[in-house]
Amino acid sequence: MEAKKLYESFSKALIEEVHRWGCMKQTGVSLRYMMEFGSMPTEKNLLISAQFLHKELPIRIARRAIELESLPYGLSEKPAVLKVRDWYLDSFRDLRLFPETKDKHDELDFTQMIKKIKVRHNNVVPMMALGVQQLKKNMDPKILPQVQDEIHQFLDRFYMSRIGVRMLIGQHVALHDPSPPPDCVGYIHTKMSPMEVARNASEDARAICLREYGSAPDINIYGDLDFTFPYVPAHLHLMVFELVKNSLRAVQERFMDSDKVAPPVRIIVADGIEDVTIKVSDEGGGIPRSGLPRIFSYLYSTAKNPLDEHSNLGSTDGVTMAGYGYGLPISRQYARYFGGDLQVISMEGYGELI
Ligand SMILES: Nc1ncnc2c1ncn2[C@@H]1O[C@H](COP(=O)(O)OP(=O)(O)OP(=O)(O)O)[C@@H](O)[C@H]1O
Ligand SMILES: [Mg+2]
Repeated sequence: MEAKKLYESFSKALIEEVHRWGCMKQTGVSLRYMMEFGSMPTEKNLLISAQFLHKELPIRIARRAIELESLPYGLSEKPAVLKVRDWYLDSFRDLRLFPETKDKHDELDFTQMIKKIKVRHNNVVPMMALGVQQLKKNMDPKILPQVQDEIHQFLDRFYMSRIGVRMLIGQHVALHDPSPPPDCVGYIHTKMSPMEVARNASEDARAICLREYGSAPDINIYGDLDFTFPYVPAHLHLMVFELVKNSLRAVQERFMDSDKVAPPVRIIVADGIEDVTIKVSDEGGGIPRSGLPRIFSYLYSTAKNPLDEHSNLGSTDGVTMAGYGYGLPISRQYARYFGGDLQVISMEGYGELI
């Protein structure tokens, strides 16, 4: 029935086109290239960038749309997943219907169009979470581990691709800023201070903790304030925010009913010769060994799922302390996007109250 729906709202020709484009090879773009290219946002360069995206984005979007159609265990038929697939098909159609970009005027129109695509896809992550939730509800718990594994691999690929598409669109749009902040090339900050980003992200996480629990542990940040390196601040912000949120929750849950002062969460920024490492540590009791293999699963959370209560995904203030089970796996994908990684080391019982 759902397959029928696909042809009702999207023409057969469009679906065939999606499959044709989905077979084309996509082109990777490195951080260095984006930084070098974006440092000269001349009219000519913006036009070249738009022409590249006009070919590249439909390939990437088509691939995801195809994948969304053929997910295992009936996930593709879940209403939330169908909605996400429709967003991908709508965006593919918008891109393919757009005429060739030949001059500045076309380029500006194109930029407006891809900006709209980015907004259309804003809620893909919670919407997919809802879809997976819908699948999980009626699933035999015996086959759940295998299902989880397959879906996990798909979601890892899917979100990695989404990060890439959003980075490409965001970068192109940001290059139009007539007065960019100093040392910024689009989304990239050529002298990003990890200390500063960590401070902002932890303040944001702490505010949510305060809102949810009425109090929040302190956060201490250690590192060299002058150290900078080129990176995308929004990505680092997201990662630190998610990790600190987890730490605050663990410490808060452990200490809120005790008369002891909650130990602070510590963030250490280490600037090595080859790597920048950021460690977030807490004394919230760690994670039991039995739970460890699952913490990177998109289906695993020890918090109550906020999707059950209010599935109004149209609103953008859906930030909660925990509950989706997405914080760690998504953050790891962001870390990996530019060649990094995210690891969790647990010391069960650390932060014991006795
Ligand atoms: N610092 C920590 N201390 C103790 N447990 C943790 C810590 N970090 C993560 N966990 C455990 O790992 C689980 C998964 O974390 P994750 O951030 O992926 O999802 P979540 O916090 O439950 O939900 P959200 O998607 O809203 O972040 C948590 O529910 C929690 O049980
Ligand atoms: Mg979390």
